[in-house]
Amino acid sequence: MLRKLSQPVTVTAVGSDNLPHHVFAPRLLPEQLGDREFCRDVGIRFPYLGGSMAKGISSVQMVEELGRAGMAGFFGAAGLPFSEVEAAVDRLTDADFPCGFNLIHSPHEPDLEAALAGLYIRKNVRLVEASAFLALTLPLVRYRTHGIHQAADGTIVLPNRIIAKVSREELAEKFFSPPPEKFLQQLVAEGSLSAEQALLAARIPMAQEVTAEADSGGHTDNRPAMALFPTIAALATRMEQKCDYPFRLRVGLAGGIATPVAAAAAYAMGAAYIVTGTVNQACVESGTSEAVRRMLAETRQADVAMAPAADMFEMGVTVQVLKRGTMFPMRAAKLYELYRRYDGLESIPDSERDKLEKTFFKAPVADIWRDTRAFFLTRNPNQVERAERDQKHRMALVFRWYLGQAAHWAKDGDPTRTMDYQVWCGPAMGAFNEWTAGSFLELPERRRVASVGRNILFGAAVLTRANILRYQNIRLPADFRIEPLEDTQIKEYLA
Ligand SMILES: Cc1cc2nc3c(=O)[nH]c(=O)nc-3n(C[C@H](O)[C@H](O)[C@H](O)COP(=O)(O)O)c2cc1C
Repeated sequence: MLRKLSQPVTVTAVGSDNLPHHVFAPRLLPEQLGDREFCRDVGIRFPYLGGSMAKGISSVQMVEELGRAGMAGFFGAAGLPFSEVEAAVDRLTDADFPCGFNLIHSPHEPDLEAALAGLYIRKNVRLVEASAFLALTLPLVRYRTHGIHQAADGTIVLPNRIIAKVSREELAEKFFSPPPEKFLQQLVAEGSLSAEQALLAARIPMAQEVTAEADSGGHTDNRPAMALFPTIAALATRMEQKCDYPFRLRVGLAGGIATPVAAAAAYAMGAAYIVTGTVNQACVESGTSEAVRRMLAETRQADVAMAPAADMFEMGVTVQVLKRGTMFPMRAAKLYELYRRYDGLESIPDSERDKLEKTFFKAPVADIWRDTRAFFLTRNPNQVERAERDQKHRMALVFRWYLGQAAHWAKDGDPTRTMDYQVWCGPAMGAFNEWTAGSFLELPERRRVASVGRNILFGAAVLTRANILRYQNIRLPADFRIEPLEDTQIKEYLA
């Protein structure tokens, strides 16, 4: 009864107080759960986004499948050579469905960030997920304000939309604020904006949408969604009042969402849309290996851990990764401990170095440094120059070689390196596996990103209707549960 989402439910039933009640649950389709104006503006049917996953793990195919199913996906541009991102842009920009690309802050490679923003501007990419920003940057402001103009009726038109993903309110405030004046002036000076455009840009926020990112796979502050979302949502309300924008600000939620229950909770808190990540990596369209998909299918709630991150290793930054079936979190933590304790590779005791060479690197440290050096000579020679005068930096680069390779071994499914796989993964994976146990979605080869998204959305709508009955004193049957449905069945309910 509750599954026929387009039909209201009116029944007389005995409530938990043993009295008869006339109860009502309205028609409720998944598209009603989030912000419908957001969906209209982005051109999607469902308030559901597939978050960016680095190195093309959120692949072109994943973005296509989500787009065709009325959702939108972000291509995982981070960590890929520029030419690969360009090829993905070329393949996706003419698509007849909405899609987006990741614009990730690269503090160590500012030129790359500027080049990506430039590529997105040149190729008319209209939607980006901006992430890892600690402050706004010129390339980001250039992207957001490019092509800004006023329509005949005076409305400010912004061709480029930024959905900013943050886990801290200070950053959310920056994105909900107009672009900083100093950047607008720089853009006028360099000829990217006219003075009139700069005046218009000063009246709009950097991002109309901010995604509050709670505890998730990969880089995460491990914030609980229940505490983070209301804080960012309250900030959006304050910023609307303060800035008097010509449109509403919106807040989405990411982190921990892989089940109908979690999605229903997110929408109940007021999320304009939800963003998934971890669960999509486990789907057949993801750019990772079969081996990783099989490991993810076995993952339970507590099978994740924080481990040192390759990109900000020296600063002690960590990422959330899978710990079941791989020793990566322990090995990476060991490297960080050695890095903290010793001044350089030469100071590490022989017994420790032997262990590193035999089990972690499977090669002499000298060989790893030779390869790392060759890599940086073409990519960033300053690193080599610094490492040759600073032995601690040399140690960091060698250890970062291992951390970086560990992600590649996983993505390529290297059978000789299973114990070193670095797989970014959040607790959402365990929740998804528990929910889908015994259904077709238990099988890694049946996990399709659009089926997963549709089931999460459909289940969230059914649960929301069930809650409406609960609030009217109706006790739900003890076996009430949202089972995953095959595409053909679910499409009927969503029609
Ligand atoms: C394997 C993996 C790679 C990710 N890479 C990126 C990335 O490059 N850029 C980014 O903005 N977010 C990245 N994320 C975060 C996701 O886009 C998304 O925000 C997050 O996974 C949502 O939380 P969940 O993991 O609990 O589903 C990644 C997440 C995973 C699991």
